[in-house]
Amino acid sequence: MKRLTDNFGRRIDYLRLSVTDRCNLRCVYCMPKRMRFLPKRDVLSIEELEALASAFIRRGVRAVRITGGEPLMRGGVMRLFRALSRHLRRGDLDEIALTTNGSRLASFAGALRDCGVERVNVSLDTLKPDIFSALTRGGLLSEVLSGLEAADKAGLRVKINLVVLGDANLDEVPEVIMWAHGRGYAVSLIEVMPLGDVGEDRLAQYVPLDFVRRRLSERWVLEAEGYRSLGPSRYVRVRETGGLLGFITPLTENFCASCNRVRVSCVGEFFGCLGRGVSVDLRGALRGGFLDEAIDRALLGKMWGHDFRIGGGVGVPVARHMSVTGG
Ligand code: 5AD
Ligand code: SF4
Repeated sequence: MKRLTDNFGRRIDYLRLSVTDRCNLRCVYCMPKRMRFLPKRDVLSIEELEALASAFIRRGVRAVRITGGEPLMRGGVMRLFRALSRHLRRGDLDEIALTTNGSRLASFAGALRDCGVERVNVSLDTLKPDIFSALTRGGLLSEVLSGLEAADKAGLRVKINLVVLGDANLDEVPEVIMWAHGRGYAVSLIEVMPLGDVGEDRLAQYVPLDFVRRRLSERWVLEAEGYRSLGPSRYVRVRETGGLLGFITPLTENFCASCNRVRVSCVGEFFGCLGRGVSVDLRGALRGGFLDEAIDRALLGKMWGHDFRIGGGVGVPVARHMSVTGG
């Protein structure tokens, strides 16, 4: 079957599949306090999610990242992981990855590992319980820390996703990196993106990562590093800690040329780009039996890149929240 290549010749081999837009947390950069979630009746069943993923795998996708919302909040999510693990065993898929807030990882780590999951991205922006609780609007840091311990025990490799926020954790960034590297975790620093109204001031949150990088390189030697993950992180190795440090810089440094990914939301909308509002409905196509044609058509619409800008007044912020399409 025809492999997925977009209009710009980019080979698409990475699918990010959101299994729910719901979350037990309410991070200040991600959602408003009172978030309106998608109607449950519109959300794809586990079987439909599996059918979608399989269609993409038949077309050459080699890695699937399960994301959300909080994927581990989705009922039956382990059925999806088990179904995907069959593709791993058959050799038509190289990797199943997961993005999670970690709060329920303690109950799931072992089962995930049994399904062939090797790596998890855990969102953790601070190690201070009170700041964690403020940032997540009520979350418990201790749950995430137990989740991480369970992940270690299960043999999952961990990467910490840290959104750098000018008004919350900027000064704590080196400490979190040292802690994470000490435990053998890679860290990716992320620039806050203008996705959806969160009822907070994006400008106060936003810190360009080139500024953070300069500050970090006053304290540490950041060595060029060839390591590339599937995603947009650009890595260095911190000589003093020996750990990997990635920078995800959608605003200050465009990485679209090497984009290899597409996203599908939990209601079956196809997004060629996180930073674009346009989507194509795959749910109707799935139910109507013309999914492959719909995927082809959707891919034709994948644009060159995003148009994020904060505060400039020119770039239009994307109305959709991160929790709809996932990280
Ligand atoms: N900008 C940048 N990162 C975000 N995340 C959620 N919303 C945003 C946003 N508006 C992060 C989460 C998680 C990752 C998947 O995306 O913290 O680490
Ligand atoms: Fe939930 Fe992740 Fe959004 Fe935080 S960033 S509210 S953990 S989906």
